Amino acid sequence: MSTRPAIANRATRAGSIRQHLFAVGLILVPLCPLTVHAADKDVIEYRTHIMHTLNEQSAALGQILSASVPDANAQAHLEAIALTASTALKAFEPKVTGGESKATVWSNWADFSKRMNDFARLTREAAKVAKEKGFTAAGPSVIDALTCKSCHDVYREEKK
Ligand code: HEC
Repeated sequence: MSTRPAIANRATRAGSIRQHLFAVGLILVPLCPLTVHAADKDVIEYRTHIMHTLNEQSAALGQILSASVPDANAQAHLEAIALTASTALKAFEPKVTGGESKATVWSNWADFSKRMNDFARLTREAAKVAKEKGFTAAGPSVIDALTCKSCHDVYREEKK
């Protein structure tokens, strides 16, 4: 009834899992060149999801700004935009051209990343103003923060 056999068992199991992973690794390594294409597609798809999140959240905010829906969720939408903006640059770090990105995203990386970081900072500040002073007070900083179009004008080639 001691716990020793259980520990010994676990150690053996870990050993056999390691052996198993090693064998799977040996099989996967020769397949790697085939998976590169799929990975590129995933990189593009991932940054598209991030942009769609920004799009949905700012569309919801736009409806509130046009006074057609109550403003109770305004701060939450702003925080969602700020959080998403802070993750956006990571999605562009892998240098995978294509999608709707112009190649200048990577050849002008210093400018592109500055714009993205500024966008993240400004949206975070606007969310903070909304939290502390209310959404009406945050209005002007919201408009300043949403630099979507000025970045798209330079770095996005709309295909649809
Ligand atoms: C610093 C630059 C930058 C900012 C800021 C930015 N975007 Fe984008 N956006 C891009 C780039 C580059 C693409 C092209 C991505 C791709 O397909 O490779 C893009 C693509 C998109 C797309 C198209 C996605 C698709 O279906 O292919 C939408 C929608 C979008 N952005 C919405 C927004 C909204 C809304 C904001 C602001 C709240 C915003 N973006 C802010 C650079 C930016």
